[in-house]
Amino acid sequence: MCGIIARIGQGEAADTLLSGLENLEYRGYDSAGIAVQNGSGVKVHKCSGEVADLKSTLDSRPHGNMGIGHTRWSTHGPPTDENAHPHTDMARNVAVVHNGVIDNYDELRADLQAKGHEFESDTDTEVIPHLIAEYRETIGDTEAAVRRAVETLEGSYAIAAIVDGEERVYAARKGSPLVLGLDDEEWFLASDVPAFLDHTEDVIYLEDGDLVVLDPDAYRITDLAGNPVERPVDTVDWDPEDAGKGEYDHYMLKEIHTQPTALSNAIEGRIDDGDAAFEDLSDGAFADVDTVQFVACGTSYHAAMYGGQLLRTAGVRTEVLRASEYDVTSGPVDENTLVVAVTQSGETADTLDAVREATSRGARSLAVTNVVGSTAAREADDAIYIRAGPEVGVAATKTYSSQAVTLALLTQRIAADIPDATPAADREAMFDALADLPRHVETVLETTDAEALAREYFDSESYFFIGNGFGHSVALEGALKFKEITYEHAEGFASGELKHGPLALVTEESPVFAVYTGGDDEKTKTNAIEAQSRGAPIVAVGPEDHPLVDVADAHLSVPDTHPVWAGLLANVQLQLLSYHAAKLLDRPIDKPRNLAKSVTVE
Ligand code: M6R
Repeated sequence: MCGIIARIGQGEAADTLLSGLENLEYRGYDSAGIAVQNGSGVKVHKCSGEVADLKSTLDSRPHGNMGIGHTRWSTHGPPTDENAHPHTDMARNVAVVHNGVIDNYDELRADLQAKGHEFESDTDTEVIPHLIAEYRETIGDTEAAVRRAVETLEGSYAIAAIVDGEERVYAARKGSPLVLGLDDEEWFLASDVPAFLDHTEDVIYLEDGDLVVLDPDAYRITDLAGNPVERPVDTVDWDPEDAGKGEYDHYMLKEIHTQPTALSNAIEGRIDDGDAAFEDLSDGAFADVDTVQFVACGTSYHAAMYGGQLLRTAGVRTEVLRASEYDVTSGPVDENTLVVAVTQSGETADTLDAVREATSRGARSLAVTNVVGSTAAREADDAIYIRAGPEVGVAATKTYSSQAVTLALLTQRIAADIPDATPAADREAMFDALADLPRHVETVLETTDAEALAREYFDSESYFFIGNGFGHSVALEGALKFKEITYEHAEGFASGELKHGPLALVTEESPVFAVYTGGDDEKTKTNAIEAQSRGAPIVAVGPEDHPLVDVADAHLSVPDTHPVWAGLLANVQLQLLSYHAAKLLDRPIDKPRNLAKSVTVE
């Protein structure tokens, strides 16, 4: 978790660091800080709270052409001013920002304390500037000291460091993301591209074991032994506008509204002559696969359920596993197993661990992700991108839709390769309807009654979401979104499960949102009516032409489409419902408490 940034070049650094941190706040917003160096000491400014709080503590911007910054999601120690980064050594000569977890910090701290070092925070990070300072004393050279300090660390880290009197930034990575941005007159390092997208689209994705030295007019990448390393320069195709809120009150609302474009991008060029086609995946690429395991967390898990259902229907042995449970649920894995990691960020620790375990047992891996150069994309045997563009709101919206569509196409591609599998018989109709999906999402956005319904129900006691088949995964996703941003109790169930326990919680104060897709949804209707007869208001969420609409108390309508896609339209209605309810409850929609977008700890 956490976001880090560094900048060196012509002109002042502080504003660039602060605006870069704002674009990284989706990674954590417990505290924020910057350190700037201008030849007269390293100046650190930090506080608990968001970047906006940090800005309000600065009477003027600290002066200097180079600096580092951090926005925190707490792991070691509460979100206090003392625990905010950057951290320094005792003499305040070395300042460091860090994303990751140092596993051996207790031991390192004790060693350093025995040598007279005093610490000010509860963090694991603080050992790093102390180590660098200690090695500078003994070795006499900062680059060698940074190298030695990094070699001493166990765990995961992306760090950036500055040192008093040196016009230079040092950085290193292992297990946490770090991207180098190359502009004409300045260099950047950051946890993610949006931090510097206003300045440059030319990037180098650094690898584990890379150590970087940035001077104002040159950069060097070496391995930990000091040997030069060449890394390719990539150009990102995200528009800087994608990273801002534009005319919307919240990133989440913007991201819900940009789903038509995101979906068009996900689909573009991936249907060829009536078949699903993926760049870089040749015909027959999956011919040896006999089992597919989807591994994912949270919203990505719900998208994986969507894909899993389609693949099972195509006759392929399929498991959809929660990545955090992979070690106990995975069962047999061999070289004919394809493990598909579904992860928007490509950095979720649980998902990466599951893939590593599967591949260590012989499986082949495929990442389905939004972030080019992410750890999942780099570590997997193959990667497919969902092309949703940057998503900043902690609540995943457009990436869910893009994942579900990409996975649906992937399932047809896999089924086409596996000899005994049967791609959907009506896939021509399915693909035709897919081409209309962006337009149908627009219709939902233009005609939705979600705000009125949110107003009617936002002070209820509990919220239940039910659905069958594709509707089940949408119900789970609807409930996750609702609880995540409204802080209200919300649960999703398979329709038929309601009567096996949860019905005991149903009252007139617990609306039930019944998702149906126009397919086999008799169970959803029956179970919704059972809840209604116990007093619960029923909201039907799906196409117009369905018997549930006649009995429901309200209806969130979606355009008629192929049943495979109707759930995705229902999900847009539920995203809007959550958004408006959270707004009425005055919640911090883009930054829900205790959460961060990219969960890089187990
Ligand atoms: O980056 P990932 O897709 O791997 O993230 C997985 C979950 O942490 C994520 O989907 C989370 O559940 C969302 N914030 C929910 O809106």
